[in-house]
Amino acid sequence: MTRNASTGIAYEEDLLFEHSRPGRVGFALPARDVPEVDAGALLGADAVRDDLPGLPELSEVDVVRHFTRMSTWNAAVDLALYPLGSCTMKYNPKINERMARLPGFAAAHPLADPARCQGLLELMVRLEEGLCEVSGMDHVSLQPAAGAQGELAGVMMIRALHEARGERRRVVLVPDSAHGTNPASAALNGFDVVSVPSGDDGILHPEAVEAVMTDEVAALMVTNPNTLGLFERHIGAICEIVHARGGLVYLDGANLNALLGVARPGDMGVDVMHFNLHKTFSTPHGGGGPGSGPVGIKAALAPHLPVPVVRRDDDGSYRLDSDLPGSIGRLHGSHGNAGMLVRAFTYLRSLGAEGIRRCGEMAVLNANYLRVRLSDHYHVPYDGMVMHECVFSDKHLADTGVTTMDVAKRLIDHGYHPPTIYFPLIVPGALMIEPTESESLEGLDRFADTLIEIAQEARDDPETVRSAPHRTRHRRLDETRAARKPVLRWQPDPAS
Ligand SMILES: Cc1ncc(COP(=O)(O)O)c(C=O)c1O
Repeated sequence: MTRNASTGIAYEEDLLFEHSRPGRVGFALPARDVPEVDAGALLGADAVRDDLPGLPELSEVDVVRHFTRMSTWNAAVDLALYPLGSCTMKYNPKINERMARLPGFAAAHPLADPARCQGLLELMVRLEEGLCEVSGMDHVSLQPAAGAQGELAGVMMIRALHEARGERRRVVLVPDSAHGTNPASAALNGFDVVSVPSGDDGILHPEAVEAVMTDEVAALMVTNPNTLGLFERHIGAICEIVHARGGLVYLDGANLNALLGVARPGDMGVDVMHFNLHKTFSTPHGGGGPGSGPVGIKAALAPHLPVPVVRRDDDGSYRLDSDLPGSIGRLHGSHGNAGMLVRAFTYLRSLGAEGIRRCGEMAVLNANYLRVRLSDHYHVPYDGMVMHECVFSDKHLADTGVTTMDVAKRLIDHGYHPPTIYFPLIVPGALMIEPTESESLEGLDRFADTLIEIAQEARDDPETVRSAPHRTRHRRLDETRAARKPVLRWQPDPAS
């Protein structure tokens, strides 16, 4: 038996996927009670295979242990604080899962007659209203399947509005601290991207926007709080500058967690924004589930919303409206990732207005607590209060030869997922930590103590940090090879 160092869970080394035995089965089908058919005649000979697919033959218990064991090799927010900055890896309350599994939601078919899924459509409209309330926007479309797709949709609507006004603007302004999806969304819409430099204090200044603002600018895309975790204090003045020349302001809402219940982008002058339900609204990320990136707009953009739009009629019934000639079209095969909408709605309703505000406040408090506890040990490139996340760098460790990458790898030995590293790009050696509101004081202290211990270890025994991780099943990977030549599917061992 071997024991996983971070989880303490024991596993048998030799029970691997390759341990197939001919004839071993993990399922039992009931006896056939319908006549046998000639599949070739029914489906066409091409559709019927006569060889076996070569899948491993294993018992049920082998399969369950295999997947359960693999799940323990992962970092997960259900195991420990998950400080991946900009991703808001908050705890996903289990009540969300219960609600998403209610058959009326889970079994609703995207092509079902709206009359047969009124409950789901009502939930969607109420979620749209909730997101409008939280953000100060006038309408929301729930279709986009990720923040990046929300951005794409938002910029498409901006383009459509300018075109409807007979204006051909070709530029989108993006601050130098922005996430890469912002320039990508602009470029995919055919715009030229012009970068706006942040000031020495890490935020955007009206003069910098004024200097690049022309009548050719379709929009400014801004993240607030920005990717350094700093509130863009001049957002009001910046929106005025952009609006005065006929441009629109897009807000990347990835960091909305910091503003929840306290401030609303719509009140700051923002015209379009996206939400990441898989961040702010506690729906699972990545391998845990598909994303959801609703896009919110001010009324002027409503003629360009994606279709179908869910409408509530005067009699209280709900319908799908595709009759919107100015629409940018359909973005998703169904109504968005509906299971995520149920989870996000559950989160909103279970927290309520007060809970939402407390969530934003605690996220900010926790990030500042870590900033203060760690600032003697890690370099803080931009000093002062942060919002929901704090950015450090490896500058203080320069004389040890230990880098941000090494610190991140060493954290894995202590059972933590690494923070976001080397982003934002304007901070060399960045370590971006977002603790979220989900962590207790003791949990934050444990995490801070671990990072302090690693900084000390970098001085006393740098090689141990440089060669981390040591306690994981796989040691440090060759990241270039993993990116360039990924092995994405299990292959049978030719020797077995
Ligand atoms: C600031 C920012 N904008 C946009 C995105 C894109 O969001 P998504 O990953 O949901 O596509 C991210 C993702 O981490 C982000 O951090």
